[in-house]
Amino acid sequence: MSTQNYTYLHKKLLSWYKTHGRQLPWRETDDPYKILVSEIMLQQTQVSRVIDKYNSFIHRFPDIYSLAKASTGKIIREWSGMGYNKRAVNLHKTAKIIVQNHNGEIPKLLETLVSLPGIGRYTASAIVNFAFRLRVPVVDINIKRVIGRVDQGSLFDTDKLAWETALKYLPEKTKTADWHQALMDLGAMVCTAKKPRCESCPLVLNCSASIKFISSNHLNKINTKSPQKTNPAFAGSNRYYRGKVIEELRGRINSIKIDQLGILIKQDYSPNTDKIWLENLINRLVKDGLIEKKKGVVSLP
Ligand code: ADE
Repeated sequence: MSTQNYTYLHKKLLSWYKTHGRQLPWRETDDPYKILVSEIMLQQTQVSRVIDKYNSFIHRFPDIYSLAKASTGKIIREWSGMGYNKRAVNLHKTAKIIVQNHNGEIPKLLETLVSLPGIGRYTASAIVNFAFRLRVPVVDINIKRVIGRVDQGSLFDTDKLAWETALKYLPEKTKTADWHQALMDLGAMVCTAKKPRCESCPLVLNCSASIKFISSNHLNKINTKSPQKTNPAFAGSNRYYRGKVIEELRGRINSIKIDQLGILIKQDYSPNTDKIWLENLINRLVKDGLIEKKKGVVSLP
């Protein structure tokens, strides 16, 4: 694509973002700590569920120092309702490392950020871009889909190609934070995975996928990859019961015996047949730092 075309595309999307972009609390700050918290929350939880949690979390732990010195149990309690509780434990570890080794300042280097617990390439780039305003590409699942469709008319086969292409599309001068937030919003509201609304898309004229989407013949085949299905096995899975254990412990001040816990989390719990399974589940939660076990009783750390 020519430079002129890139410039046109940047203008179109950024002006769409001005009128259609979502107002989200973490977009109203460039405090790296707050952006770190929001991005960890957004890793596996939808925006609509994160908003209130983010606000109350920041109210409870307004800076990296308050977070670092809190108990892991308090942080897990504050994480309630978001799932994937290991993120809370990792966030706590990261806060402690930043206070101890980085003078309480969130590192600006991607390599340093990715060495911290719970921070991968996406989260590191998002922090560097949104908080420190550095010109680096950020690729999450929405951005990957949008750029893939615009650039080659289909989803990228590899993450490597997605990141390389995202770099090509980065505006030179405009704020690249807005550029990425705009791509995320377009992916969430218009260029959706299942039914892209090409008729409302500011990039329709630049997009290599729009023709096939608009033609009704293709409407039933829009996903080149198989659609994500909700996992029917989740309700009885170990991840499900891990969540139930944490939920149960969140609601109590005192520790609880393993068999009592079993009865509370599993309707048909039987000490004879389920005890070994539950002990293994608990041992893994202990190993992940999510709970503590002492003399046959368990509690949040
Ligand atoms: N998902 C991950 N980061 C996000 C952000 N900053 N805004 C909206 N959705 C996101």
